[in-house]
Amino acid sequence: MLWYSALASAALFAEALSFSASHVLHEKRSTALHHERQRVDGDAIIPIRIGLRQQNLHTGYDRLMDVSHPSSPNYGKHLSKEEVHSIFAPADETVEAVKNWLLESGLFEENDIIEYENKGWLAVHMPAKDAEMLFGTEYYEHETADGEIRIGCDEYYLPTQVSSHVDFIKPGVKLSAPLKKRQFDKRGITTPGKKKPHCEPPHYPGWTLPPGAGKLPPDLQNCGVNITPTCIKALYDIPTVLFGGPENSMGVYEDYDAFSQEDLSLSLEHFAPWVPADTAPKVLSVDGGTAPVAAGDPRNGGESDIDIFLSLSIVYPQTVTVYQVDDLPNSSGETNLTGFLNTWLDSVDGSYCDYTAFGITGDSPGIDATYPDPLPGGYKGKLECGVYELTQRQCNELMKLGLQGHSILASSGDYGVASFPGANGNANGCLSAAGLNGTIYNPDNPSGCPYITSVGATRLYPDQTVDDPESAMQVNLTAFNIQTGSGPVGEPYDFFATSGGFSNYFTPPSYQAKAVAAYLELDLPFQSLPYYEANADATNIGENGGVYNRIGRGWPDVSANGAFLLVYNNLTELTFFGTSLSSPIFGSVITLLNEERSQVGKGPIGFINPALYENPSVLNDITNGSNPNCGTQGFQASKGWDPVTGLGTPNYPKMLEYFLSLP
Ligand SMILES: *[C@@H]1O[C@H](CO)[C@@H](O)[C@H](O)[C@H]1NC(C)=O
Ligand SMILES: *[C@@H]1O[C@H](CO)[C@@H](O)[C@H](O)[C@H]1NC(C)=O
Ligand SMILES: *[C@@H]1O[C@H](CO)[C@@H](O)[C@H](O)[C@H]1NC(C)=O
Ligand SMILES: *[C@@H]1O[C@H](CO)[C@@H](O)[C@H](O)[C@H]1NC(C)=O
Ligand SMILES: *[C@@H]1O[C@H](CO)[C@@H](O)[C@H](O)[C@H]1NC(C)=O
Ligand SMILES: *[C@@H]1O[C@H](CO)[C@@H](O)[C@H](O)[C@H]1NC(C)=O
Repeated sequence: MLWYSALASAALFAEALSFSASHVLHEKRSTALHHERQRVDGDAIIPIRIGLRQQNLHTGYDRLMDVSHPSSPNYGKHLSKEEVHSIFAPADETVEAVKNWLLESGLFEENDIIEYENKGWLAVHMPAKDAEMLFGTEYYEHETADGEIRIGCDEYYLPTQVSSHVDFIKPGVKLSAPLKKRQFDKRGITTPGKKKPHCEPPHYPGWTLPPGAGKLPPDLQNCGVNITPTCIKALYDIPTVLFGGPENSMGVYEDYDAFSQEDLSLSLEHFAPWVPADTAPKVLSVDGGTAPVAAGDPRNGGESDIDIFLSLSIVYPQTVTVYQVDDLPNSSGETNLTGFLNTWLDSVDGSYCDYTAFGITGDSPGIDATYPDPLPGGYKGKLECGVYELTQRQCNELMKLGLQGHSILASSGDYGVASFPGANGNANGCLSAAGLNGTIYNPDNPSGCPYITSVGATRLYPDQTVDDPESAMQVNLTAFNIQTGSGPVGEPYDFFATSGGFSNYFTPPSYQAKAVAAYLELDLPFQSLPYYEANADATNIGENGGVYNRIGRGWPDVSANGAFLLVYNNLTELTFFGTSLSSPIFGSVITLLNEERSQVGKGPIGFINPALYENPSVLNDITNGSNPNCGTQGFQASKGWDPVTGLGTPNYPKMLEYFLSLP
């Protein structure tokens, strides 16, 4: 319908589009979004990306196992970027069909069409009114409850002969991503002039020295309430590194949020004095991103300060490289881009994956926005919902990076079996479908992708020391903030717990099938929950009153500490919680292992999951705790893999021995 009204109002293109008699609906949203929305200004330039249908994707899993499974004779024999691109490149016929269509529209010259190096995308920039014509749609700016603007449309059309060559168009049914807000406990306790790496008095009212802590060095006595890199190194037996080539740099991906060098220097000086306080990461700008920023800048939200501080404190003297994606209105400088630009940048897609030419992505690399975006009306099939293709696509991009020897990590999320509050139309971050209202578990993306290493969070309790086993990270931040006299209280801070569960889209990959099956046999409280078995397009979520998919890929894969971390942000010492702390820690461990391997002439580990599931004894199994939400107790941690803490936390000496033994 929109198609015809657009056509009628723009005679200019009637001729150019006369070939288009046979347009088909390519994607459609099943339920209108609740957000406030307003039509995008017709003259605003929209950067459009067209995801082309690629070839040989069905061979991706086996190819990745071939270079990543420890029992494969080709373990570690990663492919070059060029090899990967050529294996999966769209057929020439696909590129031609889409380019011809764009050229025939009369809107573009040949060199207006940008072909990405990975061959998976075409990009064009055009005024919204032209895009609306071309796709037979209307573009809207959607404002979320938080005031974030995202743009997208409800449905769009493509010519029949083009539709079969295109995965999806962005922005489209999939809105541009909101800038994800991390949740943390902002406390505002300043400790000017403090020089000691340990913290006295500990920032925890009523805390007393735990039994057994007295015999520990002072900087390890209060790790149960104040985590520092010294505590982390002790927990996981991580040595202080003595060697390091600049070629082994740890990559950290930051979107919007940017670090402050002053914060970093303060954190290093106080909590990691073995790293010179003026140490700075290398910053690589993606699409004009800039860092660092001044302390207290609106972009200095803490995420980058934490990621870089944690990584440097563990991998130094190896370096940290920040891939800084910036979506401020001005940043690209190529057009008069209007306000929505600060949100169109959805850093998940192949074009950005292309920029992640690095060893390891650190914490929630901008790709942890929640997809799919399950709308209140639930899933109605991939054509209508329009999220299925995107999820698959992102996952395939991760597979390609794994083939090239990159380890990609993502934090699992912080709301137990839910996603973050409000993210999916439900205030509690849970799903509604099949008559269930906000009680269905909501698996985070990209953790569901079998080609990523999803990292959950663990914690110590105040009466524990680094010699005690950790538990799943679960904390009532409201209670903590009331106790400590600052920070936000109330929903959603009552429920902060490491995320985990089972994907609705992906089945368990072979490397974890045994581990998942074993968990599902255990006599644990979660067994009383009703479940469903998601079909291939995930259109039956919530069937039988079920709250989780019993036949999905389980996540997280591993975990690391994510509670009570002391970091400077805006020149203030703050205490942070969340899985965002965990993935830089695990990523740093992989970086150190890669360096050790390179000392003996071996290549990087690359995709680490198959090796870890094959030999989980190199991790500390976490067996206590759970990840409640959506009105239930969630899943329980257990002996062996569980959808709360995965296989467990790093045991560095054991990991080192194992990964040095692999080819
Ligand atoms: C940073 O700290 C200053 C001084 O305490 C304060 O005025 C400012 O609001 C803070 N900025 C942010 C973003 O919290
Ligand atoms: C945008 O560009 C103008 C002119 O170059 C500059 O003054 C302004 O600070 C920039 N704004 C942002 C948010 O970068
Ligand atoms: C961009 O804005 C400038 C100043 O407002 C204007 O002169 C120019 O024509 C605009 N360019 C485009 C491509 O809209
Ligand atoms: C679902 O639950 C929410 C929050 O409890 C409530 O506001 C809403 O009315 C419910 N919707 C339906 C359809 O029952
Ligand atoms: C969290 O703590 C607050 C303050 O003590 C309390 O009111 C609330 O019930 C607690 N929430 C949960 C889920 O335990
Ligand atoms: C186990 O976890 C629970 C919370 O689920 C916690 O209260 C308890 O202290 C933990 N026990 C140990 C031994 O860590």
